[in-house]
Amino acid sequence: MRVAVAGGTGVVGRHVVAALAASGHEAVVLSRATGVDLERGAGVTEALRDCTAVIDVTSVQALGAKRSKAFFGGVTRTLLAAEREAGVGHHVALSIVGAAEAPSAYYAGKALQERLVQESGTGWTLLRATQFHEFAAQLAVRSAPGRLRIVPAMTSQPVAAAEVGAALAEIAVGAPRGIERDLAGPRVEDMPSLVRRYLAAQGDHGRVLTVALPGRWGKALRDGTLLGGPQARLGVQPFDEWLAATTS
Ligand SMILES: NC(=O)c1ccc[n+]([C@@H]2O[C@H](COP(=O)([O-])OP(=O)(O)OC[C@H]3O[C@@H](n4cnc5c(N)ncnc54)[C@H](OP(=O)(O)O)[C@@H]3O)[C@@H](O)[C@H]2O)c1
Repeated sequence: MRVAVAGGTGVVGRHVVAALAASGHEAVVLSRATGVDLERGAGVTEALRDCTAVIDVTSVQALGAKRSKAFFGGVTRTLLAAEREAGVGHHVALSIVGAAEAPSAYYAGKALQERLVQESGTGWTLLRATQFHEFAAQLAVRSAPGRLRIVPAMTSQPVAAAEVGAALAEIAVGAPRGIERDLAGPRVEDMPSLVRRYLAAQGDHGRVLTVALPGRWGKALRDGTLLGGPQARLGVQPFDEWLAATTS
């Protein structure tokens, strides 16, 4: 099958593309690097020619809810309209566990994306995953080596992006499933501890200061809102195994 991967150059997108190729399918990458800007919208229908499904793993670095909603709302509307024109029957979106409940600027865009997909009237699957193992690394590299890292008090159940990518590839070549079971990692972890372990593996002696964020968002980070829950499908690779494989 021919499957379009919007955001196929990103952290999880690269794994989606690899998983599709490994199972004998053709991936068409849509990203600005391949000449398709999904916020501008030009040329998307043509890029979807002969595709049976679209997997949306695009993202934006948004500091505010307005920007996040503009990005995820705009990209989702553009993709869904182009899919209708091109006759694509399955839209697969990746979201985040808790995105519809926890009040954060970035999650406001993800919640809008979730709603648009569910109201689309097309065949769709929505997979919610917990933070990728890479998330701790992304928090760590925000500061220069050796410097203090300020990390929110956060309970997470990190999952390997490779496992999320493989799940999305498998979903896309099948029939639409609606809301899929959450995909979470095998262990519940403390985010500041993950950042410390990541820094130690890099030989970085920078300290990590844990800060409990105020308000409903801070509470959601700590109270399990972002965890997989009892019905979640669990990934296999724990954080420390991923870390050892990444840094060896
Ligand atoms: N990170 C996590 O822990 C986590 C956990 C669960 C779910 N998710 C979800 O997973 C998805 C992917 O996250 P990620 O961390 O893999 O993202 P990422 O590494 O930041 O990659 C983002 C992708 O989007 C593309 N993109 C950005 N703007 C675009 C535009 N205007 N037009 C076309 N393509 C555009 C980028 O390619 P170009 O730069 O070439 O355009 C890139 O391929 C997101 O929706 C996120 O909410 C993330």
